[in-house]
Amino acid sequence: MKNLPPLNYDPESLPRELKRHYISATDSEIEAMLKAVGANSLEDLFAYLPDAVKMEKAPAIPDELSYSGLQKEMVELSAKNNTVSSFLGDGLQQYSVPEIVPHVLGIRKLTTAYTPYQPERSQGTLGTHWIYQCGVSALTGFEAVNASFYDRSTALFEALKCAQRLRRGSTAVLVADTLYPNDIEVIETHAKFTNLEIHRVPTNKSSGRIDLATLEEKVANLGDRLAAVAFPQITCFGILEDVDRITDYVRNQKVRSIAVIDPILLGDGGLKPPREYGANAEGVDMFVAEGQHLALGPNYGGPGLGVFGIRFHDGNKNDIRQTAGRFVGKGKDSKGRDAFSIVLSTREQHIRRDKATSNICSNQAYVATIAGAAILARGAEGFGEIAKFVRSRAKVLAESLIQLPSVALAFPNEPFLNEFTIELKSKTVAELILFAAAKKMHIGAELSGRCGDARELLMISLSDLQTDADCARLVDIVSEFFGEMGNSSSSSSSSSSGSSSGSGNASGAAIPELETKFLRTGKVQLPKYSTDQLKAHYDRLGEQNVSPDDNIYALGSCTMKYNPYINDYAAALSGFANLHPQAPEQDVQGALQLIYETQEYFKAITGLPGVTTQPVAGAQGELVGIKMFQAYHESRGESQRDVILIPRTAHGTNPATATMAGFVAKRGLTPPGGVVLVEANPEGEIDLAHLDVLLEKYSGRVAGIMVTNPNTSGILESNFHVMSERVHQAGGLVYMDGANMNAIAGWMDLRKLGVDAVHNNTHKTWTIPHGGGGPGDAFVAVSEKLVDFMPGDQVVQKADGSYTWETPVESIGIFHRHHGNFAHKVRCYTYLRALGKEGVRRMSAMAVLSARYLFMNLKMQVPSLPTEAINVRRMHEFILTLPKETFTKAEEKGLKKSEMIPRMGKLFLDFGLHAPTVAFPEVYGLMVEPTESYSKVELDKFLAVVHEIYRLVNEHPEVLKTVPHFTPIDRVNEVEANRELMLSETLNSLPKILANRVPVAELEGASAAEVAKRIVMAHQSVCE
Ligand SMILES: Cc1ncc(COP(=O)(O)O)c(C=O)c1O
Repeated sequence: MKNLPPLNYDPESLPRELKRHYISATDSEIEAMLKAVGANSLEDLFAYLPDAVKMEKAPAIPDELSYSGLQKEMVELSAKNNTVSSFLGDGLQQYSVPEIVPHVLGIRKLTTAYTPYQPERSQGTLGTHWIYQCGVSALTGFEAVNASFYDRSTALFEALKCAQRLRRGSTAVLVADTLYPNDIEVIETHAKFTNLEIHRVPTNKSSGRIDLATLEEKVANLGDRLAAVAFPQITCFGILEDVDRITDYVRNQKVRSIAVIDPILLGDGGLKPPREYGANAEGVDMFVAEGQHLALGPNYGGPGLGVFGIRFHDGNKNDIRQTAGRFVGKGKDSKGRDAFSIVLSTREQHIRRDKATSNICSNQAYVATIAGAAILARGAEGFGEIAKFVRSRAKVLAESLIQLPSVALAFPNEPFLNEFTIELKSKTVAELILFAAAKKMHIGAELSGRCGDARELLMISLSDLQTDADCARLVDIVSEFFGEMGNSSSSSSSSSSGSSSGSGNASGAAIPELETKFLRTGKVQLPKYSTDQLKAHYDRLGEQNVSPDDNIYALGSCTMKYNPYINDYAAALSGFANLHPQAPEQDVQGALQLIYETQEYFKAITGLPGVTTQPVAGAQGELVGIKMFQAYHESRGESQRDVILIPRTAHGTNPATATMAGFVAKRGLTPPGGVVLVEANPEGEIDLAHLDVLLEKYSGRVAGIMVTNPNTSGILESNFHVMSERVHQAGGLVYMDGANMNAIAGWMDLRKLGVDAVHNNTHKTWTIPHGGGGPGDAFVAVSEKLVDFMPGDQVVQKADGSYTWETPVESIGIFHRHHGNFAHKVRCYTYLRALGKEGVRRMSAMAVLSARYLFMNLKMQVPSLPTEAINVRRMHEFILTLPKETFTKAEEKGLKKSEMIPRMGKLFLDFGLHAPTVAFPEVYGLMVEPTESYSKVELDKFLAVVHEIYRLVNEHPEVLKTVPHFTPIDRVNEVEANRELMLSETLNSLPKILANRVPVAELEGASAAEVAKRIVMAHQSVCE
């Protein structure tokens, strides 16, 4: 391949991009650091691992590629996919991507930032989410929109669970069969083994809508057990549902209504917004949607964007408290400036743990960020034009097609907007799809069988992407396929008004009218901005954040490492980004090869025999693992196993996952089951004696254990294999939370550790950017016992070398409507090819060396946790705390002890850095994780800052009262922001952005001592 698409950046100008394995330290720096920690080589760092669990040699993945070789490899792989003109939709619509999107995708301080838990240093991310929430609110009429769920399917599951919590004693929900089948499968996979029954309402075969008589029957049968009814505005056949009637009916039954909508069709003159459904426009209670197409191409199915809204007004302020996921609120800082922060966190896993409303942690934050920008680029008008345009195109195309004798509308009397289903009379849809693919067209989605009858059905989806010529060609292809003549000239005219009148055609059939009851009547309050205006706004938002590109971002447990630019280049290649997941198999061979090889590489890296790439985040990976545990026990007739053991210091997602999977204490069982905590010993490792007590106490009931390794204190669980053996002997399975694989990848063999399932957050160890909270991504590797239970499909290689899908024989079902966050799989794969087998080991060894180097330089002057583990070797992170005397001094100055550590975190912001992880897993701890991305010079600079911060807090604890001083805003009053919740507003102008009081670059350029002096001065000037 001669002409590669050019890089849209200059790698030479980026300090880390061309470094081998993206490791910044030079050989001499590495040598100096090794010497400082008393090691002779990188191998030495792992010499103390028990031989029984070591990986014997570097994982068998291909050797590393050069930078240019990598570029070429990725371009060639993407070129193995055929992206042709497409009429595929079927729940994953494809629209043009507004020009602002690639620009925002390139703002590194937004893309690479962490979840905005430090609001004063994250107004950028929070500001983008505010725009998203307000934009979706304007389109839908809902006051509260969260930012955001993984995708439509999981958003629907979360909405159903929310409805269940809102109706005490309820155990069931009704979902229409007219929802997309893969959404239904996802919610069924999630609901299995839980206390939520999913009941389905069949499709009326002649209308393609919900069967109302059966709905009424089922509602009556379920009575008080019923929590909600979920139904789509556009059915999975493209038909517009009678949403007014269903909404009113459901409300009268006193159960929650959940509408599944498409936000892109809700502009001026478009479809009726969910807030207005019903004869009296009272609206539904919740809505969910897929929002990927608001801002992204199909990307072979992901990342998606789960859009969720719930009513929040004077008459209903409480439903929101039962929701899951992240909301951004508008409040004030301590000086009364407007300020955004995450609100309602007390429902979330990191606080409520097993009592959380969901296990979601990383969400699809960055997709929400770009969707917000795309919404403002389109404005109310732009959305309105889309709705009118697609209706007009769909109508004209349908008219042309039904002139062919072998083609008819599958539901001839039902109205549609942007997509419609045709029935083929004499040949099969499968044949037509192949015929069209050979002519370079993805003609639509096969729906045969979906309606429960034998008809051959094809759904054709329209958007703003297809041209008149594409439509004409589609008609020609179908004519040629049947050897029939229609009147293709009409298909090339999109001038039809798309208004509400039906129209006749040669076959005598008419395109059903679009009655006004389906449409919006009022105007959307949504401004439109030019690309230049938005570029300037989002660039300024970026300046409110900091990025691991520039400096250590020491968030322990979060692995904020450098995210190579070339990963983004590869993911954006048209062959990947514009590929629809329902394209025929022969056209997606590049994508399948990439997934296949990723499966193989992670088998080699973990030592385990099975890998699924389906999960879209670490927490979802956990759920996949625990669901497999349940399925495995069930298959052995041991469904009574109702206990999951979890160390007290585990990440909140672990207990929340176990609960979400169905591990809850059941009445009448003594001792109660569900999540049971295991204690740590004084060295910070699992207390094996306590484990033994629990295995005995819950004999025959332990389903498994979930353990993070290395654990959240940065300490290796040196007895992991012993623990595994004991759990296995007790009949349980072992889940390793692999969020910290950055410390051990390539050095420890998880098979030898006795791991049955492990997730890796690819947005940590494997360089996917954090996106201000997502999209994350994950894979799960499993032991032999669980291989047959893996979710979704596995990619397998056929004898002829090509790739295809295969479903594991006892699969637990799907977790994603397609194949997970595919664009992130591309990034991860690109990184693995850059690392090669040597790089995997070098990367994790350098992460450990960097942390040990810092810890070694700090531990004698600064107290660490666990207190008695000072001499225990740290892996990739460690926890610091304050000396007792400093706590006392600060208390004497009027600060509460519990405030000290979070305020210390804010002092880091004043040095132009992000804070370490505060108060987790230890309330009085600051968890530091440097990663392998930084040079010794940078690590030394960081050490100087930490020492200076400790000196400052000890000498002037009062500065903690006014921190931070240099961010755009003062400390956010999060208590008030939660009390007086404000979750959206009408956007009449772009929200105001305040400048940094001291630019980050200025703080980075100054010495730690100088910054400390400025902090004291700033504090004094505030107090004067
Ligand atoms: C130890 C640990 N486990 C699980 C998770 C959850 O992963 P995710 O955010 O990808 O869902 C995290 C995320 O921070 C983590 O640190």
